[in-house]
Amino acid sequence: MCGIVAYIGNKNCKDILINGLKRLEYRGYDSAGIGILVKSPDGNSGSQGLEIKTVKQSGKINDLEKLLKGQKIEGTVGIGHTRWATHGEPNQVNAHPHFDCSKRIAVVHNGIIENYTEIKEELKKKGHTFISDTDTEVLPHLLEEFLKSDADGGMLIAMQRLLKRIKGSGAIVALSSDYPDELIAGRIASPLIAGISKEANFFASDMPAILEHTHNFVVINDYETVRLTRDKIEIYDASGILLQREPFKATWTLESAEKAGYEDFMLKEIFEQPYGIRETMRGRITNGIFNFDEFGLDDDKIKNLKKIQIIACGTSYHSALTGKLVIEKWAKIPVEVDIGSEYRYRSPLIDANSLFIAITQSGETIDTLAAVKEARKKGAKVIAITNVVGSTISRESDSVIYTHAGPEIGVCATKTFTAQIIVMYLIGLYLAKRKKLLSEETLKKFINELEIMPNKVQQILNNADKIKKIADYSYRHTCFLFLGRIYGFPMALEGALKLKEISYIHAEGYAAGEMKHGPIALTDTKTIVVGVIPKDFVYDKMLSNLQEVKARNAKIFALTTEGDSNTSKYADYTFEIPGTFEELYGILEIVPLQLYSYYIAKNLGRNVDQPRNLAKSVTVE
Ligand code: G6P
Repeated sequence: MCGIVAYIGNKNCKDILINGLKRLEYRGYDSAGIGILVKSPDGNSGSQGLEIKTVKQSGKINDLEKLLKGQKIEGTVGIGHTRWATHGEPNQVNAHPHFDCSKRIAVVHNGIIENYTEIKEELKKKGHTFISDTDTEVLPHLLEEFLKSDADGGMLIAMQRLLKRIKGSGAIVALSSDYPDELIAGRIASPLIAGISKEANFFASDMPAILEHTHNFVVINDYETVRLTRDKIEIYDASGILLQREPFKATWTLESAEKAGYEDFMLKEIFEQPYGIRETMRGRITNGIFNFDEFGLDDDKIKNLKKIQIIACGTSYHSALTGKLVIEKWAKIPVEVDIGSEYRYRSPLIDANSLFIAITQSGETIDTLAAVKEARKKGAKVIAITNVVGSTISRESDSVIYTHAGPEIGVCATKTFTAQIIVMYLIGLYLAKRKKLLSEETLKKFINELEIMPNKVQQILNNADKIKKIADYSYRHTCFLFLGRIYGFPMALEGALKLKEISYIHAEGYAAGEMKHGPIALTDTKTIVVGVIPKDFVYDKMLSNLQEVKARNAKIFALTTEGDSNTSKYADYTFEIPGTFEELYGILEIVPLQLYSYYIAKNLGRNVDQPRNLAKSVTVE
């Protein structure tokens, strides 16, 4: 997830681009850059005495602004980008825009080019040289190559050919000093809009970037390409046919536009989960094909693996628990899970035949980092799972697997959690595949199911109002017990954590079988028991546990599976999730629990994006 803004008009656009990027920092903030068409100092670069001047910087837009201070860059066509790294560290070289060889084409991009390695190799053979580690850099070079073979087609046709050549996702905006009166864009899967006004036209990945200039927008759809000039927009479909599309008028304020119309970042991020899940699977599961070789262990290492140790804190710890369950079930490797702050001070048994996995959305949690150091000292290979490219953990581990949930602004982890769960499934399936423990047919079934998981999550989100109603009945209760078994247990823990984090109500997550050993003493009319009860092999056991608390006057909110008419006989409120394989239920269970906590907290007037006493990255012990 990155932010794009582009301008073509009659004003100097440097400040317009910078201000636009500032409005998009919630989409990415690890590096930024602009590219503006300026008069060439020697008057002979480009066909029209023009050249593209780029200024890029790592860090926030403020850092870029500092670098720009005092630089006179005058031009009326430009592109800008704020990055959330996916390929290549967030540094100056990897920041966008990226150039072709001739430096006459500059490109900004939001998305992931899955086949960039293959394209890069092909272009290298044709003499192209690359300077960054990004996937994006192949785009200007591809455009250059297409223009070489068809100069008459211009940038538009080159962009149309480019969209056919790349696999993955992308909102792409290109600027060329040979075609100074147009900006050319293309889109696959990543958001892109055009802003239209009398004075100038714009591209942006989101409205806030340009809302101060125009309220007239045109949405660009998948596989469309666009030529934008100072006074015209031309949109072409995938086969190059010119389309007619009228702009619509947006009534959003700047603040609501940043949150895409949602009341809070947390709600927006909960609703972004189908996207985060899809992006995290991108290139790893595509059209039934499973490729997770980035895991990077050779056959011998996998064969000799005696143990996997997973370390994490907070919400990430709950995804680690899911990891344990699926890895042990599918790949038959013992997995130990520990909390960073505990692990670092005990005497863990770990050696070169152990694999150490550290999960941290921020990549900066001090206790997780300390545990990583400890494990490496003992010779273990460390794989980090994080959402932040270039974060400390990515530098201090042997290899990194990125979740691609996009930046999470709300302090509570939501979309990064479901992205981590996806990586846990991928690891479990991958190790089982390499150890030949799952038949091709079974593996295929899981892969196919994962591919449709974003749709199932969407189905739950479409019923958010039902959860809201249950939350409206629940929010005055003062004690919440979240119960689950096996795959539902980590979700019970995470559901309880979400509720206490943002509503400040006391909540506990428990393995349902443990109720009798203490927590059942808590149940009375003030208690709500949230039962995670999918149709799996422990369904009957869960049902008995719910009957036990019912008999003690607690209210029950049960998360059930579609078609389960039995649980509702005992539960006061039920919410149905779509059916799936028992190992995969977690990802569907947590989404309604996030919504439940959210609506309870809102009923209590809490600040869900910045709950009291909590921080997004915990860099102190
Ligand atoms: C903080 C955040 C939590 C997060 C935890 C671990 O407490 O508020 O949402 O789960 O840190 O963070 P990490 O970045 O290591 O996943």
